[in-house]
Amino acid sequence: MVRFLNPIFLSCLYIIFIHSLSVNATTLQSDIDVLEAFKTSIDPFSISTDSFLSSWDFNLDPCETTGASFLGILCTVPDVDTNSSGRIMEIDLEGDELEGFLTSSIGNLTELVSLNLGRNRFRGPVPETITNLRKLTSLQLYENFFSGSLVNGIGELTKLEILDVSNNRLSGSIPSSITSLRSLTQLDLSNNELTGKLPQLNGLWQLSSFDLSNNQIYGNLPQFPLKIKTLSLGHNLLSGHITPVHKLRHLRTLDLSDNRFSGGINKGIFMLPELSYANVSVNRFTVLEVVEFSDKESQLHTLDVHANRIHGHLPVNLIRYPNLTEVNLGHNLFSGEIPSEYWPRLGFSWRSLNLEYNNLEGSVPRDLNRTLEGVQGSFEHNCLICPKGLQLCHGQRPASECHGGNHN
Ligand SMILES: *[C@@H]1O[C@H](CO)[C@@H](O)[C@H](O)[C@H]1NC(C)=O
Ligand SMILES: *[C@@H]1O[C@H](CO)[C@@H](O)[C@H](O)[C@H]1NC(C)=O
Ligand SMILES: *[C@@H]1O[C@H](CO)[C@@H](O)[C@H](O)[C@H]1NC(C)=O
Ligand SMILES: *[C@@H]1O[C@H](CO)[C@@H](O)[C@H](O)[C@H]1NC(C)=O
Ligand SMILES: *[C@@H]1O[C@H](CO)[C@@H](O)[C@H](O)[C@H]1NC(C)=O
Repeated sequence: MVRFLNPIFLSCLYIIFIHSLSVNATTLQSDIDVLEAFKTSIDPFSISTDSFLSSWDFNLDPCETTGASFLGILCTVPDVDTNSSGRIMEIDLEGDELEGFLTSSIGNLTELVSLNLGRNRFRGPVPETITNLRKLTSLQLYENFFSGSLVNGIGELTKLEILDVSNNRLSGSIPSSITSLRSLTQLDLSNNELTGKLPQLNGLWQLSSFDLSNNQIYGNLPQFPLKIKTLSLGHNLLSGHITPVHKLRHLRTLDLSDNRFSGGINKGIFMLPELSYANVSVNRFTVLEVVEFSDKESQLHTLDVHANRIHGHLPVNLIRYPNLTEVNLGHNLFSGEIPSEYWPRLGFSWRSLNLEYNNLEGSVPRDLNRTLEGVQGSFEHNCLICPKGLQLCHGQRPASECHGGNHN
C-alpha cells in the first residue's frame, strides 16, 4: 500500500495536514497576555510606524496571522495530539528603537527559544524571571541601557548558546552560576560596568568566543574553556601572569590590552598554532621572548606589545613568522640596535612597524627609503642615526639624552 503513495498525493496530504493545524493554532491566551504587557511597557511615542512592534495588533491572533501583523514573532507548531495552542517561540525586535522597560512577565513565555531586543533603548533591570525561559538558546540584549546586575539565576538557562548583553550599563559581578551554561558558544559581556573577579568558566566547555572588554574586572585569570577561538579581555583591571592562555590551542584572536598583566609574553603565546591577532599592549609585561616557530607555520599576523615595560634587545625571531604584517613594539624599554634582519621584511611582508619611544641606537640603512612605500609606523624618540628624509625616523631624542653620544 505504501508504495502507491506518490509524491503528489503526499504533498496534498501535507497541505491538508498543515491547514488543519493552522485551524487549531490559536495562541495560548497567557502568551497573548504577555505580548500585551510587553507592548504596554514600551513608551508609545517610541514605536515608529515601520517598527515590528507597531504591527502587533491584538484584534488578531499572534500565531494565526499570516500577513504583515505580529512581525518579529514566530510560534511553535502546536502538537495535534494534545490539541495544544500556539506558543511564542521567538521574538526579534532588533533595532526597533524602542524605549521602555522589559516586563517581568516575559518569564511566562516558557516556550521562548530566542529573544533579540538588541539595539533599542530598554532601560532598567533585566527581570529575574528571564531565568524561567529554560528553552532559550539565544538571548541578545546588546546596545540598550539595561542596568543592575546580571541575573543571578542565569545558570538555569542551560540551553543557551548565545548570550550577548554587550553595550549596556550592567554592574555588579559576573554570577558564578554562569559556568553551568554548558551549551554556550558565544558570550559577550563587553562594554558594561561589571566588576569583581572572573568566576570559573571551565563548565562552558563549548565556548568559542568570549568578549569581556571594557569592564572593571580585576584579579588573576582563571582557567578558560579549551575551545576558545576569540578571547577579548581588553580594558579591564586584570593582573598576574597570562599562563592560563597558553593552553588555548584553538585561539585565533587574543586581546589582553589595557590591563595590569605582568611577567613575560613568551613561548606559550608564540606556540599557539592558530593565533593570528595578539594584542597585549598597555600592560606591565617586562619580557618578550619570541621563539623560533618550528612544528607548523605560524598564523601570526598582528603583534601589538606597545606600552609595556619590556627591556632587552628587539627579538630577531620575529622575522620567522611568515604571516606577520603588523608589529608594534613601541613605548617600551628596548635597547641596542635594530636587527639588520628586520630591513628586508619592511615594505615586503611587514606593512607596519612601530618602534617609537624606546632606547634604540645605531644606524638605519641609507637605502631603506626605497622599499618603504606605504609602510606605516614610527621609529621616533630613540637614539637612532637616520638617513636624511626618512619620515619614519623623524624626531630622534637629542644627543644629550643618548648615552654613547649618538647624534642625528
Ligand atoms: C505571568 O505569570 C504570573 C504567575 O503565573 C501571573 O501572575 C501573571 O499574571 C502572568 N503575567 C501575564 C502578563 O500573563
Ligand atoms: C481542541 O480544542 C478546541 C478548542 O479548545 C475544542 O473545541 C476541541 O474540542 C478540542 N479537540 C480535541 C480533540 O480535544
Ligand atoms: C591594541 O589595543 C590597543 C588598546 O586597546 C589599541 O589602541 C590598539 O589599536 C590595538 N592594536 C591593534 C593592532 O589592533
Ligand atoms: C598565512 O600564510 C599562508 C601562506 O602564505 C596562507 O595560506 C594563510 O592563509 C595565512 N594565514 C593567515 C591567517 O593569514
Ligand atoms: C624618501 O626620501 C625622500 C627624500 O629623499 C622623501 O621625500 C620621501 O618622503 C622619503 N620616503 C619615505 C617613505 O620616507
